[in-house]
Amino acid sequence: RLQSACEALAWDFHLLHETDSTNARAMRLLEAGNPAPCLLLAESQSAGRGRRGRHWVSPFAENLYYSLALRLDGAAQPIEALSLTAGLALLKTLHETGLTRAGLKWPNDVLVDDRKIAGILLELSGDPSAVCHLVIGIGINVNRRVEAVGIDQPWTSLFLELGHLCDRTELAIRLSEHLRDYLQIHFAKGFSALREQWEAHHLWQGKSAVLISGAGQITGKVLGVDERGALRLQTAAGEQRFSAGELSLRLA
Ligand code: BTN
Repeated sequence: RLQSACEALAWDFHLLHETDSTNARAMRLLEAGNPAPCLLLAESQSAGRGRRGRHWVSPFAENLYYSLALRLDGAAQPIEALSLTAGLALLKTLHETGLTRAGLKWPNDVLVDDRKIAGILLELSGDPSAVCHLVIGIGINVNRRVEAVGIDQPWTSLFLELGHLCDRTELAIRLSEHLRDYLQIHFAKGFSALREQWEAHHLWQGKSAVLISGAGQITGKVLGVDERGALRLQTAAGEQRFSAGELSLRLA
């Protein structure tokens, strides 16, 4: 089914039993000249990666480890805020399972009651203002039901939330279609066309939060995001904007 869905999207498709990281593997494929867009899925990852150098625990055949590899002309197809756009496609996919309580946390976590159910890792190689390689990596906790060793934050899964197993193929197909649609809007009109929609799903909108970086912490009220996907925070020193990079956000 996935194969024919990818044919309909004109995407190349690879399904692997195991790999180090679908993101790393997808980037290697692009660099070796593989046709793009290319969707890569694996049943497990031995070195799954998360944001900020974290490990993404990837048990066999329970979850979705999804990487979409793109060859882009950064001049014509702006990459800024693309991870937030991907978050919208991911959230729509989760909402369609019936899990309508899921929401976004800047820059691109998907949470249910403060527990993480999915995350996105965008990786870029080359010059973002010229032709470059981009991998949109998405991990969804689908049918996981017991704690796995090494998860260092509160988490949940579709199974735990919905009380039944979910078809990972169906999820991957829907996610692909939504990604195609949202990326089309992003590249045609920019993230500014999606900004309000993103804020409408932002769980921390209007809340008091602490932004943590290598340089220290800043507390403020979350105002939203700007057209470049940067976080707008009302701090004691006035409004400040932060682009995702290595930052993380906690509730104050
Ligand atoms: C995060 O929230 O920290 C991002 C997690 C992204 C995990 C996915 S799983 C598929 C793809 N391959 C990886 O190595 N990472 C991403």
